[in-house]
Amino acid sequence: MSVIDFHSHILPGIDDGSRNVETSIGMLRMCREQGVDIMIATPHFYADSNRVERFVENRKNAYDRVMAENADIPHIMMGAEVAFFDGISRAERVDALTIEGTNIMLLEMPFVTWSDSVVHEVRDLIEKRHFHIILAHIERFLKIPGNKSYVEQVLELPVTVQVNAETLLDFRQKGRMFKMFRNGTAHIIGSDCHGMHHRVPNLWLGREALSKKLGEDFVKQIDTYGVQLLKDHQIHP
Ligand SMILES: [Fe+2]
Repeated sequence: MSVIDFHSHILPGIDDGSRNVETSIGMLRMCREQGVDIMIATPHFYADSNRVERFVENRKNAYDRVMAENADIPHIMMGAEVAFFDGISRAERVDALTIEGTNIMLLEMPFVTWSDSVVHEVRDLIEKRHFHIILAHIERFLKIPGNKSYVEQVLELPVTVQVNAETLLDFRQKGRMFKMFRNGTAHIIGSDCHGMHHRVPNLWLGREALSKKLGEDFVKQIDTYGVQLLKDHQIHP
C-alpha cells in the first residue's frame, strides 16, 4: 500500500518552501527514507499575487529541475495549496490547481473567523464545481475565536480533512486530533514540510504517533483511504 504525503512544499523556489534544488532533493530523500512513496507537491497559490497560468508554468519548471537530478526520490504528483479567496467558487481557472489527474483541491481556509459566505463558497466548490475538497491542516482553524459553528458546517460537507504530522505530537492538540481520526472527521496526514532545517519532512513521526494511539491497522486504513481517494477522483479525459 502506497504511503502518500498529501501536503508539502518540496518544489524549489516557488513559494516559502524549498529554496533550491539541493534542498528539494535533500527533503525528498528524507521522505524516501521515511517510507513515503508519493509526494503531492502543494506550493502555495494566492489569487492576489499569482496568476494561474504563470503558477502552473513555474511549478512545471521547478519540477523539471528536480527531475533532472535523477535522484532516488518518491514519485511526485503536482498539486497546490489553494488559499481561499472571495469568489473562488466562481473562478474558472482554479480548475488547473487540482492534484494532477484528479478533481481534488487542497484548500487552505481563511485564518480569520469564517462566515456564511465562506461556507457557501466551499459548498459551491463541491456541489456546483464538482471539486473534491481536502481541507488543509484543519487544526489551525479550530482555534480561531467564533469559528466553531462554521467549522462544524464545513465538516458536514463531503470533504476530506488533512492534519499536519507535527500536530499529532503536540500535547495541547493531539488529543483532539486523535478523537477526530477516531470519529471519522479527520482522514489523512501531511508533513506540510518547507525545508531541511525548519518544518522538515516528518510524516513518519505523525504516523508513529497515530500508530501508538490508534494502532498499526489504523495507519494502514489511512493509507488505504489516501490511495482510494486519488483513484476515486481521477479525471477521465
Ligand atoms: Fe502548506
